[in-house]
Amino acid sequence: MSKSIKQATRFIHAGTVPDPSTGAIMTPIYQTSTYVQEAPGKNKGYEYARSQNPTRKALEDALAVIENGKYGLAFSSGVAATDAVIKLLKPGDEVIAGNDMYGGTYRLFSKIFEKFGIKFLYVNMQDVNNIKAAVTPNTKLIWTETPTNPLMNITDIAAVAVLAKQHHILLCVDNTFASPYLQNPLDLGADIVMHSSTKYLGGHSDTIQGALVMNDADLREQLYFIQKSCGAVPGPMDCFLVLRGIKTLHVRMKEHCANGMVIARWLRSHSKIGKVYWPGFEDHPGYAIAKKQMRDFGGMISFELKDDSVEAAMKVLSSTNLFALAESLGGVESLINHPASMTHASIPKEERIKNGLSDSLIRLSVGIEDAEDLIDDLKQAIG
Ligand SMILES: Cc1ncc(COP(=O)(O)O)c(C=O)c1O
Repeated sequence: MSKSIKQATRFIHAGTVPDPSTGAIMTPIYQTSTYVQEAPGKNKGYEYARSQNPTRKALEDALAVIENGKYGLAFSSGVAATDAVIKLLKPGDEVIAGNDMYGGTYRLFSKIFEKFGIKFLYVNMQDVNNIKAAVTPNTKLIWTETPTNPLMNITDIAAVAVLAKQHHILLCVDNTFASPYLQNPLDLGADIVMHSSTKYLGGHSDTIQGALVMNDADLREQLYFIQKSCGAVPGPMDCFLVLRGIKTLHVRMKEHCANGMVIARWLRSHSKIGKVYWPGFEDHPGYAIAKKQMRDFGGMISFELKDDSVEAAMKVLSSTNLFALAESLGGVESLINHPASMTHASIPKEERIKNGLSDSLIRLSVGIEDAEDLIDDLKQAIG
């Protein structure tokens, strides 16, 4: 799709062409495991559904379009997409990763890949100098999440991309929190963009899925080889759901951002609330970079109560009616989460506290309901 086509048009038309067999405007769910061949090796480009599926192909094309990349690959979950990137490496290779990121990514790195001889160094990525100091001749990958889950820290993607290029290191950005509506890491020099498509891309809390997008053909071949060899592919129904979700991404994200701003400001003005983590505040340490690399600030917010006890946090977490107490984020409905016991429980407590993720931190995924109703719900829960 031409670069001059605007974002709303891209999101609606990305990847979808009328189905060649019927003209169906929506890509059908090709629920098949295999394809009949005319003669051995003579086929229509589809051999076996782990390797290719037309619904997945439409989604992968759409993923490339929405991230301004050349190639997209869809995986059965966000962690499966992360897993594929780490499988580019070999024993002895080193990865520099953020010290504040989704707990499941940390678990995959520390509990699965470390035992295969890959070394992970965790640094505070708010300052690119910390990454520079961690680079060794064995560094093969920089893994960054921005904004981070759950502390909403910001990494300067363009600055890290310059460093990565100087040292011939791959840069992969987990763009789950921002979504392609707010930020396009490939345009800022990243080599790979990763998504938990479970979140804003799907947008309706009805599927688990992951994505990678890249520009380099060789890198695409290597990742495709891993995708088909390791087999963590999404089913066609799930691909259809994410394809459909992408069509309204811009409409939903506008509302997530608008509601996020209202709720972040309201929380900050509340007498019982301590620190509020949201990159749209001008005094947020990453504000200037966020303003430069993002189009808006999103609907993810974390906060602490002035009464910094776990009991007080638990009371709020179990008193909301509209905000559902659940893991995950990015759906149309608002969610409330306790990172220390839920999404980030796999990070050792000392490590978590050292990096600023307290026992009483509460995370909100602000949905697209009416903002006044959401505030009323928080008001009665916080008291
Ligand atoms: C920032 C981030 N990256 C990756 C993942 C993993 O994605 P999935 O749950 O789809 O495997 C999550 C899930 O919460 C996430 O929040």
